[in-house]
Amino acid sequence: MKLWGGRFTKETNQLVHNFNASISFDRKFYKQDIEGSIAHVTMLAKQGILSNEDKEAIVAGLKGILSDIESGALEIGETYEDIHSFVEATLIERIGEPGKRLHTGRSRNDQVALDMKLYTRDEVIEIDSLLKELLDTLIKTMEEHTETYMPGFTHLQKAQPITLAHHFGAYFEMFKRDRSRLSDIYRRMNVSPIGSGALAGTTYPLDREYTAELLGFDGPTLNSMDSVADRDYVIELLSALSTIMMHLSRFSEEIIIWNSNEYGFVELDDAYSTGSSIMPQKKNPDIAELVRGKTGRVYGALMSILTTMKGLPLAYNKDMQEDKELTFDAIDTVKGCLALFTGMAATMKFNKTTMEASAKNGFTNATDAADYLVNKGVPFRDAHGIVGQLVLFCIGRNIALDDMSLEEYKAISPVFENDIYEAISLKTCVEKRMTIGAPGKEAMEKVIEVNKKYLSEN
Ligand code: ARG
Repeated sequence: MKLWGGRFTKETNQLVHNFNASISFDRKFYKQDIEGSIAHVTMLAKQGILSNEDKEAIVAGLKGILSDIESGALEIGETYEDIHSFVEATLIERIGEPGKRLHTGRSRNDQVALDMKLYTRDEVIEIDSLLKELLDTLIKTMEEHTETYMPGFTHLQKAQPITLAHHFGAYFEMFKRDRSRLSDIYRRMNVSPIGSGALAGTTYPLDREYTAELLGFDGPTLNSMDSVADRDYVIELLSALSTIMMHLSRFSEEIIIWNSNEYGFVELDDAYSTGSSIMPQKKNPDIAELVRGKTGRVYGALMSILTTMKGLPLAYNKDMQEDKELTFDAIDTVKGCLALFTGMAATMKFNKTTMEASAKNGFTNATDAADYLVNKGVPFRDAHGIVGQLVLFCIGRNIALDDMSLEEYKAISPVFENDIYEAISLKTCVEKRMTIGAPGKEAMEKVIEVNKKYLSEN
């Protein structure tokens, strides 16, 4: 059953076998392993290293194994050391002699480097499309809510009024950057390690460019030691995934706050909330909480691989087998979180009245009152002080700036006229903010157009 039994005189200790084996998790890339082997033997035949007959037999055998695994007719036996051994042994069992030529000019070191790259490359595309679905959901909400006013916060204290479109627009930009990070990683990782052998290439006249082309890579890697020792792309991917989770977690945190009884800005759909076993009135934002919570395990995967790699001499070391479980878990976690978060965001209802009322109190228009004075010739620093006095006056009476009489205004500064009310109205405060990236409807609509174009092109 072992690929390497020849020089050994004893059976491997069972615990050693268990400790060393990776089949329980590298079985996840059986498809990529077979795909890589097919490309490898196709190249071997083209180079005259393998007869066409043998190649045909191997390719047919590998395709049979693939379809039997997928149909469930062939079970991946957990007694094998890894997926590579399983596929090769099954092939030999099925087609005999030619199967023994599959591993010509190849090592498991370049094979596993290839499999992991092919697997993560596919997953990068999947995660990107999940991000796109989230962006599609966000842009829909943005289009519907360019006039849904709400408070914008700094220090979680009400700061200035914004719109829901603007708030969601902030996350739109974050997830757009996440997609661009993924595409950078894809571009950088898309070179083929196969044909690097164990570490020093091979003496067979392999055509590495051809194998790379067959597998959709931009070309072969340029150093055989680096090929088998490089896990940078895993680190970059886990870093990008951590950033995606950080964004999802911040968004989740806000949804949890908005969904609280005190805020009441949003109502989560029943299908996306859960109840309590004891308190009948409860409807909990568990999905958002789980997304926030799962962020930790993705960060953990990044820290773990960085630590695994830091002291490794060139070239291959078995330590690198530790890249798989963590990366698979991180990928599955991110995919699950993206899909559920998107569903939750798409079905959430917004309580416009509550949001608007909240934007109105808490002096979110104080800056605009100061700007009003500036427009009348008062230096900004003086205006800031005057409005501070107005706020103090209002706090004492539990009223808003909008509720003060003109006499009360004038008692603090004679510069105030009747047009102050218009100047500090919620609508004015938002709509006058028209610079690129600001919440005013006009500015926001331009940004939405740009982002819709981006979505149609990417
Ligand atoms: N399971 C191994 C890994 O994931 C495959 C490569 C084994 N190579 C070796 N020389 N033992 O890294």
